[in-house]
Amino acid sequence: MKPEQADLPSLRLIRDQAAWLAPARTWLLKQANARQRRRLLDLGCGFGVVSKELAKLSRGRVVALDHSLPALLAAPSTLRKAAPACADAATLPFADASFDLVFCQLALLWMPLEPMLAEVRRVVQPGGVLVAIEPDYGGMIEHPPELATAPLWIDALRRAGADPLVGRKLPGLLAGLGFEVQVELMSQLTAPARQRFDLLRGLPLTSYERKQVDALKRQAGKLDRPWQQVAHLPFMLVTARL
Ligand SMILES: C[S@@+](CC[C@H](N)C(=O)[O-])C[C@H]1O[C@@H](n2cnc3c(N)ncnc32)[C@H](O)[C@@H]1O
Repeated sequence: MKPEQADLPSLRLIRDQAAWLAPARTWLLKQANARQRRRLLDLGCGFGVVSKELAKLSRGRVVALDHSLPALLAAPSTLRKAAPACADAATLPFADASFDLVFCQLALLWMPLEPMLAEVRRVVQPGGVLVAIEPDYGGMIEHPPELATAPLWIDALRRAGADPLVGRKLPGLLAGLGFEVQVELMSQLTAPARQRFDLLRGLPLTSYERKQVDALKRQAGKLDRPWQQVAHLPFMLVTARL
C-alpha cells in the first residue's frame, strides 16, 4: 500500500533524501554517542529508513514511531529490527524518561512544534539527547535567480500544514525547555539534485504552480555544466541534551 500524504514522499525519494543527509547524520549520531544508547526513538520515522540504520548502529531497542499506519505497513522490511508504533508525536504513548536518544529527520516541520517538543522533553531521560536534522526553506541559496524555487516551497509547505521555517525556531524552543542546545549547519554544497522538483511536485500546488515547476525542471535540465546552478537548502543539525 502506498500512502498518499504530502508529508511522505515515495520510498525512492525518501531514500535519496536519507542518502543526501547521511554524512551529517553519521556525524550527529556520533556526537550523540548513539552506539552506546539503549532506548532509541525515531520520531516521524516514515518508512523506517533511518530506524533500520539506528538498529544496526546501537545494540539498544529502537522504536520507530509515525502517525501514518500506511507508512509503517508500506515497508515492513525496513522495520524488522525496530518496534513500530503508530501514534501522534504530540501525545506519545510512552512513560516519562523512556528514551536516552530521540531522533528526528525531516519530520519536525510537519508536526505541531510546541506540544511535540514538550512531549519529547517528557520522554527523554536525564542524560538523554534529542538529535534533529531539519531544514529551513527561508535560507535557501539558489542560482541563477530564474530557477529559484524557495517561494514555491514556502507557500506549498504552508498550504500542506508544515512549517518551512522550523529550523530557525528549534534552538530557542529547545533551550526554553531546559535542553543544552548545540547547532551546526550542513555546510557542504553539492550539485543540485533533479529530484528536488519531484519532491516539490508532491506538495499541494495550484495548476499554475505545477506548470511552473515542470518548466523549471526542464530549464534546470539544460544547465548541465558543473556549477552552472546552485540549489542549497540549509539543514539545522541539532543536538539537544538534558
Ligand atoms: C518527510 S517524512 C520523514 C520520514 C523519515 N524521518 C525519514 O527521514 O525517512 C515525515 C514523516 O513524519 C510523519 N509525521 C508527520 N506528522 C506527524 C505526527 N504529528 N506524529 C507522528 N508522525 C508524524 C509523517 O507521517 C511522515 O512519515
